[in-house]
Amino acid sequence: MQKQVTKKNERVEEVFNLFIKHIQNFLTEAKLNHEEYTNFVDWADRLGRTGELPLYADVFLETHVLRAMYTDKPGTQPSLLGPYFVEGSPLVEKEPGKPLVLTQRPNEPGEPLLFKGNVSSTDGMPLANTRVEMWQNDDSGKYSSFDSDAPKYNLRGYFYTDENGDFEVQSIVPLPYSIPADGPTGEFLGFMDQHPMRPAHLHLMFEAEGHETLITQVFFEGDEWLETDVADGVRTELVTKLEDKNGRKEASLNFVMRRE
Ligand code: DHB
Ligand code: FE
Repeated sequence: MQKQVTKKNERVEEVFNLFIKHIQNFLTEAKLNHEEYTNFVDWADRLGRTGELPLYADVFLETHVLRAMYTDKPGTQPSLLGPYFVEGSPLVEKEPGKPLVLTQRPNEPGEPLLFKGNVSSTDGMPLANTRVEMWQNDDSGKYSSFDSDAPKYNLRGYFYTDENGDFEVQSIVPLPYSIPADGPTGEFLGFMDQHPMRPAHLHLMFEAEGHETLITQVFFEGDEWLETDVADGVRTELVTKLEDKNGRKEASLNFVMRRE
């Protein structure tokens, strides 16, 4: 008898059949030879074994998934979730009379930043009590839980918008980020003559009842990597100004969520 360990999945079948249809055209057009195919399999094997598959996928594919899903829709454009999100980050508690401070070490190195925003629905209604999750790299350009030896949830946390849909959080200015360049992903970048840099960015995830979860990023005008982001995550409406105010940097952006 035929061995069948999993149930048929019609969506998998549909997507795979479409994939094969397009790959046949692709292979004909690319005139791929057999040696190129075995080189690819060898490289993809190393990609998996080094744990870089999520990195590669998020750098080279995720942006196309997002553009296909959202480009013509109202509301704030999503950007990459990326490979550096970590579940379980702490609630950032509000102390009376003080701004929220994103989880950080005492004397966290870096340039202080106050980031402000407003969250509303596509119909204009402000979204109070929206869960806002934020994560970013530190002043050495690294992410906690990954390439930095800071505590697991450093510069990661969540909080809620107020009754007007507003929030204000104190953090540090993120730095441009070099994706790991010494593994199979870096090898690929070399073949493509592409640098490994992403412009400085904040990661944000918004969750509000009755609305699609919005996963996006915020970038800053004047960043030298905005036009050539290795992961193609920049969208014009996600670029804001980094201003000098009250002895620190300030930036703001408003976010519009789509109804479910
Ligand atoms: C990717 C996304 C990021 O936000 C980041 O900091 C690094 C890499 C990515 O898409 O792979
Ligand atoms: Fe990032």
